[in-house]
Amino acid sequence: MLQKVLAAACAVCCTGILALAGCLLKLPGDSGFTILYSNDVRGEFENCGCADVQLGGLARKARLLRSAARETTGLIRLDAGNLFFPKKPANDIEAREFLLKANFILGAYNAMGCDALNVGDGDLAMGLDALTGLRSKASFPIVSSNIVIRDSGKHLFEPVVFKTVAGTRVAILGVCPQDTVFVPDLRIEDPVASVRKMAAAVRDRSDFLVVLSGLGLERDRQLAQLVPGINLIVSSRADRLLEKALVENGTLIVQAYNRGQYLGRVDVERNGGGFSAAHRLLPLKPGVGEEKDIADMGRVLKAQVAAMNQQAFFKGQPQQPGVVGGSAYAGGDTCVQCHVPSYENWQATPHARAYQTLVDKGSQYDVECLVCHTTGYGEPGGYSPTQKERSSAMINVQCESCHGPGSRHGASKDGIVRNGGKEVCLGCHTEKNSPRFDYDEYLPLVKCPGGGKKQ
Ligand code: HEC
Ligand code: HEC
Ligand code: HEC
Ligand code: HEC
Repeated sequence: MLQKVLAAACAVCCTGILALAGCLLKLPGDSGFTILYSNDVRGEFENCGCADVQLGGLARKARLLRSAARETTGLIRLDAGNLFFPKKPANDIEAREFLLKANFILGAYNAMGCDALNVGDGDLAMGLDALTGLRSKASFPIVSSNIVIRDSGKHLFEPVVFKTVAGTRVAILGVCPQDTVFVPDLRIEDPVASVRKMAAAVRDRSDFLVVLSGLGLERDRQLAQLVPGINLIVSSRADRLLEKALVENGTLIVQAYNRGQYLGRVDVERNGGGFSAAHRLLPLKPGVGEEKDIADMGRVLKAQVAAMNQQAFFKGQPQQPGVVGGSAYAGGDTCVQCHVPSYENWQATPHARAYQTLVDKGSQYDVECLVCHTTGYGEPGGYSPTQKERSSAMINVQCESCHGPGSRHGASKDGIVRNGGKEVCLGCHTEKNSPRFDYDEYLPLVKCPGGGKKQ
C-alpha cells in the first residue's frame, strides 16, 4: 500500500548526486533511511478550528512521527526553524503568551523526539534570552552553523549534528539569514561561507550532508550552486505551498509549507556511489489521528493562556476614542442610531456571534484568536485587551470591520467605505482560516441590504 503511494509520488528528484538510476519505489530498507521534517511552525500548537477540515496540530504530527519510528529504525526528525513564535510581539501580553506557547511547543518536541532543530530568524524574535531559556529545556540538539557570540566568535549552538542511520553517516548543518535580524550579543556570519567551511570540515566524517536553512528558497538555490555536495536542503520561510521538491546543482530542496500544516517526508536510498530520494508532503488532516499526551498538553496550554491573560487583560487605563490620525472605531451601537436595517441584518449573520465562538472554545483570552473575532483589534478605539469598557463594545466582527473606522464618517457619507471589496474580507478570511472562502458566494450571506435608500 505504502509502496504504491511512494510510486505515485515519485515524479521527483532523480538527478546529480541524488540519483543515478531512476526513482526507487522500495521502502527504506537496510541501505535506506527516512527523513521527516517540518519548517515554519511559527508558534502553532494546534489548528484554530476556524474551518472544519483544517490541517495542522502537533498531536497529529506526533502520531505520524511515532508510527514512522515503529516502521523503521532509519528515521531522522528535523525542523528547519522558525518554530517558536508567530511574529514579534506587539505588547507584554502577546510576549507572555508567545513565550508560554513556545514552552509548550518545546515540551511537545521533547516528547515526540527531534534530531536537530535549526535557529531561524523568527526564533530570535523574542531576543536571545528567550531562545537560550528554551534551549536549556530541550532534550534534542539545536543547530546553527553561522550564529556566533559577537565577542568570542564561538558558536552559540551546535555547528553540526551527526546521526548515523542504516550505515549512513548524516551530517546536519543549520543557517540563519544575516540581514533580517539583529541581536546585540550575536554575530550572524555569512551563511554560504559558513556552510562551505563546515562542509569541508565534516567531509571525511559523513556520507550525506543536510543543511537546515532559514534563508528562503531563492538563496537556498544559490547556496546549492555555490557549495556543491549538499545532498538535501530543508528550507524554512515558506509562504507558498511547494509540493514538489526542487533540484539545484544536484541538491534536493524541500519545504513543508508553514504553520505545521504538513509534515515533509524524504525517503533516501543508497544508489551505487550516490543516493536517490523521493519526497512528498503528508497533510496533517483530522484522519491522521492524535497522540493523546500531546493533545492533553494542548488543553493544558489553552487553560494556562486563559488563566494568565485573564489576569493581565483589562488592567490598562481607559483610552479616549479618536486618537492617531483622527481614525477611530466607534462600535456598532453608534451606527445603529441611524442605520437600523443594516444593524438588524448584521445581527443575523455569523459575524455577530464571532466572539461567542471563542467563548465556547475557551479562547476568548487568546490574543491570537481575538484579532479576527473582534473589531479593530489593537487599533485606536478598537478591541483592546487592556481596556475593558471599550473592549466589551468591540467584540464580534462589527460594521467597522468592513466599513472602516467610524470616525472617518463625519456628517455625510464621505469618508466611510461603502464597499471595500474582496480585500477587506481577505484580512480575516485567509487561506488557512477560511479555506472555502469565495467572495461571490460569501458576500450575499453577510452584506447589508443596500439598495441606495437611506436606512
Ligand atoms: C486570520 C483570522 C482568524 C484568526 C486569527 C482566527 N480566526 Fe477563527 N475564524 C476566522 C474566519 C474567517 C472564520 C470563518 C471561516 C469560514 O466559515 O469560512 C472563523 C471561524 C472560526 C470557528 C468556526 C465558527 C463556526 O461557527 O463554525 C471557530 C471555532 C474559530 N474560528 C475559532 C478560532 C480560534 C480558537 C482562534 C485562535 C486560536 C481563531 N479562530 C483565530 C478567522 C480567524
Ligand atoms: C448620525 C447618523 C449616522 C450615524 C451614527 C452613522 N451613520 Fe452612516 N450614514 C449616515 C447618513 C446620513 C448617510 C448617508 C446616507 C445616504 O446618502 O443615503 C450614511 C451613509 C453610510 C454608508 C454608505 C456610504 C455610501 O457611500 O453609500 C455607510 C457604509 C455607513 N453610513 C456606515 C456607518 C457606520 C459603519 C456607522 C457606525 C460607525 C455609521 N454609518 C454611523 C448617518 C449616520
Ligand atoms: C475582522 C475579521 C473579518 C472580516 C473583515 C470579515 N469576516 Fe467574515 N467572518 C469572520 C469570522 C471570525 C467568522 C466566523 C464567525 C463565527 O461563526 O464565529 C466569519 C464568518 C463569515 C461567514 C459565515 C461563514 C460560514 O461558514 O457560515 C461569511 C459568509 C463571511 N464571514 C463573509 C465575509 C465577507 C464576504 C467579508 C468581506 C465583505 C467578511 N466576511 C469580512 C471574520 C471576518
Ligand atoms: C461583512 C461586511 C459588512 C459588515 C460587517 C457590515 N456591512 Fe454594511 N455593507 C457591506 C457591503 C459590502 C455593503 C455594500 C452593499 C451594496 O453596495 O450593495 C454595505 C452597505 C452598507 C450601507 C449602505 C446601504 C445603502 O443602502 O446605502 C450601510 C448604511 C451599511 N452597510 C451599514 C452597516 C452597519 C451599520 C453595519 C453594522 C451593524 C454594517 N454595515 C456591517 C458590508 C458589511
